[in-house]
Amino acid sequence: MTDFSAIKKRFPIFTNQPNLVFLDNGASTQKPQAVIDAITELYTKYYANVHRGIYKNSERATDMFEAVRGKVQKLIGAAHEQEIIFTKGTTESLNTIAYTWGERNIQAGDEIVVSLLEHHANFIPWQQLCQRKGATFKIAMPEKDGTLSVEAVKKQLTPKTKLVAITHVSNVLGVITPVRAITAAAHKVGAKVVVDAAQSIAHLPVNVQDIDCDFLVFSGHKMYGPTGVGILYGKRELLENMEPFMFGGNMINEVTIERSTWAPVPEKFEGGTPAIAEVIALAPAIDLLQEVGFDAIRAHEKELLTYALQQLATLPDITIYGPQDADKISGVISFNLDTVHPHDTGTLVDEKDVAIRVGHHCAQPLTNFLGVIGTCRASFAIYNTKADVDRLINALKHAQKVFK
Ligand SMILES: Cc1ncc(COP(=O)(O)O)c(C=O)c1O
Repeated sequence: MTDFSAIKKRFPIFTNQPNLVFLDNGASTQKPQAVIDAITELYTKYYANVHRGIYKNSERATDMFEAVRGKVQKLIGAAHEQEIIFTKGTTESLNTIAYTWGERNIQAGDEIVVSLLEHHANFIPWQQLCQRKGATFKIAMPEKDGTLSVEAVKKQLTPKTKLVAITHVSNVLGVITPVRAITAAAHKVGAKVVVDAAQSIAHLPVNVQDIDCDFLVFSGHKMYGPTGVGILYGKRELLENMEPFMFGGNMINEVTIERSTWAPVPEKFEGGTPAIAEVIALAPAIDLLQEVGFDAIRAHEKELLTYALQQLATLPDITIYGPQDADKISGVISFNLDTVHPHDTGTLVDEKDVAIRVGHHCAQPLTNFLGVIGTCRASFAIYNTKADVDRLINALKHAQKVFK
């Protein structure tokens, strides 16, 4: 049995702030010492630019950097290492797909389908692409409780559908979507599929060959890694046929006054000096996830979610959003205290050193659908415990008392 309270000790912020209850992991997770050490070690022991030098430090940095590509490949079950492209984060990954594959493949009259659950990062790039191209932007609607059915997506699919972009887990409701079945349905009409795994990558097993999605994206900072590094996975033949988006150093084959040709994937999409330290320090974050294992991570999370749902339901005047069933959600619970504005709730629980997120969570179409200006969101990570949930409940009681 994994001792999750021992895992908390690996995250130095909790030694430095022993009273902190951190429940804003959907926004960004805390960093384990191993990640911090990997950054320090690079800068203090062998720092150099990658892919350029023929001297020892540059070769070592390059080897450490490239080894992470293989780790990410294994983490998501990609068929080839070249299918892993390092970006700045989920947002950059999604915009890259829109400006490369999208610019080439979307024409007037085509259709792009997203769900109403999407974070703005997986909504606006496709909305804007449709507007640039004269294509139709279509929305698959969730059920009342926020769950998304395959049928709801199928309803929007036609022979004109060229792309379906779906989140794996909603960052507002925690709803897990049936990405595998959605992908199969989208492929039947000839559409490509983008999966936004930003909220699932640290919580659920993600296997791109099993899902069979064409693209999958996520951010390092939501999976115990550093900020400034993200992943764009794409099927190799798709990436090979896509034009690069960012021109500059490291992404070319040959440049003359008349023309330029491109390096093979993944370099073609990694122009300029990459986030060397951030990529290298993603390795210990992946190691941590694999050491604990997704079976144990999910079991721990379900126990926490079930306990939190039970305890929240004991409070008077509370509305909980989304399905109240730990089998259907991952990582996130959204709620509102009926008599307290979410921003006031956030401020008052912070007085008790409990950090939650409040607001529209960069998913305004969804908060409009819920009929609220925003919600309070508690989002969990591997270092959270039932004692953290108890602290949240007491902090919420404090907020209710203030507004009585
Ligand atoms: C589902 C989802 N997609 C995309 C993003 C954007 O991620 P980033 O800000 O790391 O680019 C987030 C961040 O909260 C998210 O939750």
